[in-house]
Amino acid sequence: MTWLVTGGAGYIGGHVVAALRAAGLPAVVLDDLSTGSLARVPADVPVLTVALHDFDAVLAGLRDHEVTGVIHLAAKKAVGESVERPLYYYRENVGGFEVLLRAIRSAGVSRLLLSSSASVYGNPDQDQVTEDLPLRPLSPYGQTKTVCEWMVAAAHQAYELGYVTLRYFNVVGAASRELADTGVFNLVPLALQAISAGRQPLVFGADYPTRDGTCIRDYVDVRDVADAHVAAARLLDAGKPAAVYNVGRGEGFTVKEVLAAIDRVTGMDVGYQVVDRRPGDPTSYCAAVDKIERELGWTARYTLDDMVASAWAAWPKP
Ligand SMILES: NC(=O)c1ccc[n+]([C@@H]2O[C@H](COP(=O)([O-])OP(=O)(O)OC[C@H]3O[C@@H](n4cnc5c(N)ncnc54)[C@H](O)[C@@H]3O)[C@@H](O)[C@H]2O)c1
Repeated sequence: MTWLVTGGAGYIGGHVVAALRAAGLPAVVLDDLSTGSLARVPADVPVLTVALHDFDAVLAGLRDHEVTGVIHLAAKKAVGESVERPLYYYRENVGGFEVLLRAIRSAGVSRLLLSSSASVYGNPDQDQVTEDLPLRPLSPYGQTKTVCEWMVAAAHQAYELGYVTLRYFNVVGAASRELADTGVFNLVPLALQAISAGRQPLVFGADYPTRDGTCIRDYVDVRDVADAHVAAARLLDAGKPAAVYNVGRGEGFTVKEVLAAIDRVTGMDVGYQVVDRRPGDPTSYCAAVDKIERELGWTARYTLDDMVASAWAAWPKP
């Protein structure tokens, strides 16, 4: 029972590897280190420094390590960059996944866990997002995640590949300094970066129809997200499911509420600067989590303050 974790040297992948080890599930990492770091991988976990496009190397890795299941996290994830470089995102995220699926088939691997994102929903017209909503991604990044979801469902139909797709909402926090999120794209790292530089965090629009005028999102701790992978791996080991789950807390916080949590955790009065809305930012959404709670027995444990505190503890300070 060995799990190959693609993107295992990344922010979420590093936490997934740690959670698998804690659960006694052996892991091997495949990562091209384009945004990942070997420092995130424990010394006794084998690392294949391989790009997904290298079919022969991916197949050899699956065979050499007698891999029984794949957890696929390797992807490019910057929404803004995907708007500027859509074809690069399609090549990396969709092209890379096509190669991986072929190698999985050739190696006879029967279990796949796919990392997806709330971005597949686009601008949902209901606050609590259920898994059966139509997928309407807004960015090329979200489109690549949507196409990967279609690909895995088609592979399930054609080849009886068992799969679980996890759609993460806004992932925050870190179990340790080594595992911290070094890509500064999301609200909490952006705010911590601003604080470190002596600037006030930016709030993009304070005139939304929400309780304080700022956008609402579902923030979920990366340690909880990693545990959801262990629960999904167990489901895959038990049979050949074809299942999609939201991974969130099931409650939304406004941008101002997250900044207030940062004030509480850091003991600072950070303040903020309101600037124009960003085009395409949905007003409000959070995950419906009944399905993952019911079928995987998974519930998020960490609160907003817990996740902000762990992100702050892991943030590099002078
Ligand atoms: N961070 C979030 O808030 C979030 C939210 C929703 C979904 N996701 C998804 O979770 C996954 C992991 O995200 P992350 O935040 O850990 O990002 P990350 O950039 O830290 O990790 C991605 C890892 O994949 C590796 N990689 C990228 N392209 C590769 C390729 N072609 N071949 C081999 N390795 C490659 C990188 O080196 C890196 O280690 C991604 O699929 C991302 O789309 C992340």
